[in-house]
Amino acid sequence: MSMDWDLSRSLIKEKVEDSNFINELLVLEEVDSTNDFLKREIDNLQTPALVVANCQNAGKGSKGRSWISQPESGIWMSLLIKPSINMQKTPMLTLVMAVSVAEACADVCDQKIQIKWPNDIICNGKKICGILTEMKQSSAEGYGVVIGAGINVNTEMFPTELVKKATSLYLETGEKRQRFDLIGRVVKRFSHNYQLFLQKTDLSLLLDIYCGMSATIGNDVCVMDVNGSYNAKALKIETDGSLTVECEDGQMRSVYGDEVSVRGIYGYI
Ligand code: BTN
Repeated sequence: MSMDWDLSRSLIKEKVEDSNFINELLVLEEVDSTNDFLKREIDNLQTPALVVANCQNAGKGSKGRSWISQPESGIWMSLLIKPSINMQKTPMLTLVMAVSVAEACADVCDQKIQIKWPNDIICNGKKICGILTEMKQSSAEGYGVVIGAGINVNTEMFPTELVKKATSLYLETGEKRQRFDLIGRVVKRFSHNYQLFLQKTDLSLLLDIYCGMSATIGNDVCVMDVNGSYNAKALKIETDGSLTVECEDGQMRSVYGDEVSVRGIYGYI
């Protein structure tokens, strides 16, 4: 499979034009990280800007981890927006992207697509997409939010240590997919969901769909924060994107995705 087949700029442009959302589109053969690229170029780009790379040689995962981003295999994309909202609300945009990717994936395959709070997209119990949101001050106007999504689309295999928890749309369906088509769907969904987010500057208009796809609510989870870890039951996702959990002593706690990791007690979810 070559990049021209499914990731040329003209193919992506045609798809993202439908949603009339993106003002600048960059398609790169190789980059260190699409998130880092947008943070470096923040003062030179019209927003919303979208950058897509065929390969990242220093792809970043959350919590300082790296993200495997081999050529041809997945969608490595980042969106730069400059929302006029309180900076403390920006972590919610990660959940807006999570819903958008989950909806787009569900549109193209019949598999079980879920969201592991706050922002991992799961297909048949394994992770197919991770999202990393970062902020960057721009010298001209305010600050920018970079939302990067890595979607395992046509990946044929994963390193042994990831096999139990990572998968791709290809591995779940046996079909290779055109990346430009899925990129167009993600952008379209995000553009719609972002408007719903801006109406209330919270997730209230998106919560039904988010919770409907949640793989976390109702589960026994292990919450890991800076002070250690504890077991709890995941009860509810709130309009600010936090997760309400009930601890084993009956105490209720709100946990925030940028502060904790949540793992299922009986497995990855
Ligand atoms: C996670 O660990 O779950 C987050 C993974 C985020 C990966 C994407 S790929 C595109 C963008 N550029 C990066 O360097 N990271 C994000």
